Amino acid sequence: MDKLIINGGKPLLGTVGISGAKNSAVALIPAALLADGPVVIENLPRIQDVAIYYELLKELGADVLFEDDWMEIDGRPMKPIVMPNGRVKKLRASYYLWGALLAKFGEAHVGLPGGCDLGPRPTDLHMKGFEALGATVENKNGVMSIRARNGRLKGARIYLDLVSVGATINIMLAASKAEGVTIIENAAREPEIVDVATLLNNMGADIKGAGTDMIRISGVDRLHGCRHTIIPDRIEAGTYMIAAAATNGNVLVENVIPKHLEAVSAKLREIGAEVRELDDAIQVIGRGRYRASDVKTSPYPGFPTDLQQPITTLLALAQGCSIVTDNIYSSRFRHVEELRRMGASIKVEGRSAVIEGGRKLNGGKVVASDLRAGAALFIAGLATEGTTELEGLEHIDRGYENFVGKLQKLGADIQRISLPQSEHHQR
Ligand code: UD1
Repeated sequence: MDKLIINGGKPLLGTVGISGAKNSAVALIPAALLADGPVVIENLPRIQDVAIYYELLKELGADVLFEDDWMEIDGRPMKPIVMPNGRVKKLRASYYLWGALLAKFGEAHVGLPGGCDLGPRPTDLHMKGFEALGATVENKNGVMSIRARNGRLKGARIYLDLVSVGATINIMLAASKAEGVTIIENAAREPEIVDVATLLNNMGADIKGAGTDMIRISGVDRLHGCRHTIIPDRIEAGTYMIAAAATNGNVLVENVIPKHLEAVSAKLREIGAEVRELDDAIQVIGRGRYRASDVKTSPYPGFPTDLQQPITTLLALAQGCSIVTDNIYSSRFRHVEELRRMGASIKVEGRSAVIEGGRKLNGGKVVASDLRAGAALFIAGLATEGTTELEGLEHIDRGYENFVGKLQKLGADIQRISLPQSEHHQR
């Protein structure tokens, strides 16, 4: 277990390169298993979630070569095994094995996923989708056993009651090799969904409309190998943009698709930062004296829930009262107590954080309870004069490639030190 010592109060200055998108990577890897040949995925982020997926693929018996930021995946030697617990509990996105194995073998027996604790995270829509495609679903002590009747799924029209990234991708995976046409209505429109559809189409699938709320999948018999480069991580980019603003810095965030960050750029401008959009980069210049603003998260292209926690830190530094409402995860507020320890005045009311901004933060000892809470807290530490000690880095490692190195390159005074087992998370 490690902890981060942050001597904050210095502006972040310079250039930061953004890695491949985590939420694409963890869906593209299982998607690659559907091909009857090797698939190469490039621009993988070097993060724990990808490392765990690599181990999952080996457990499943796939041939995998994993070097630096690319993986060659060949699912041909795989057998349909039961994956009850263990690694599937270590990340949320192991749920994509349901759709991938169901498409490949006509059956999947995989435990319920783990991931960040953001309150209830049901998977009923995934199951509803599989059932609509003609599968039977049984929960055997937490292992979901999903089987296609007669061995192959059948296309169907599926209306999602809620916009869900996970259910949209899982249904797309399952339907890609089903018999006939599947239509997903009220589909999620996240760029990561387009990325997965692009890979599947390059493997020979027939998917139209990804990126809109209606996706049409004509099932095919076989998929083949190909090469794919992952899109940039808009959440990692947004995190550095918010950090630049919070530290009154000047940061060029490189290798991004500015269109994917429109909601974030607009909100930062409203709060009072300068944001310049270039072709494949965004420059953020912090000006201090920020204004309060209300934030409501919603599915893409709205403001992402994954940046709700980081923007709360920035609003704690702005003058006036802001209300941050998370319409996706009602209890994604475990960072609030830690920010309060650092001197912020924030209270949680229902699914909102009410922030009395403009207080001076004071550093202190804090613990990241989940991935984006970790981002909110390192931003707070960087923006605060004084020393912040941050634990719970294992959560941050799951989703941010080399965040310590990237922040140090921007001039942050931070150090990662190893903690003896007995000392960590003492609260
Ligand atoms: C994905 C992302 C996560 C992001 C979230 C919302 C991955 C691995 N994770 O998570 O980083 O925060 O999208 O953008 O890509 N819901 C149901 N039933 C379901 C499925 C979802 O009620 O079967 C609800 C969820 O509780 C949540 C909302 O729908 O309130 C959206 O969830 P969803 O988009 O599915 O999120 P995840 O796929 O878990």
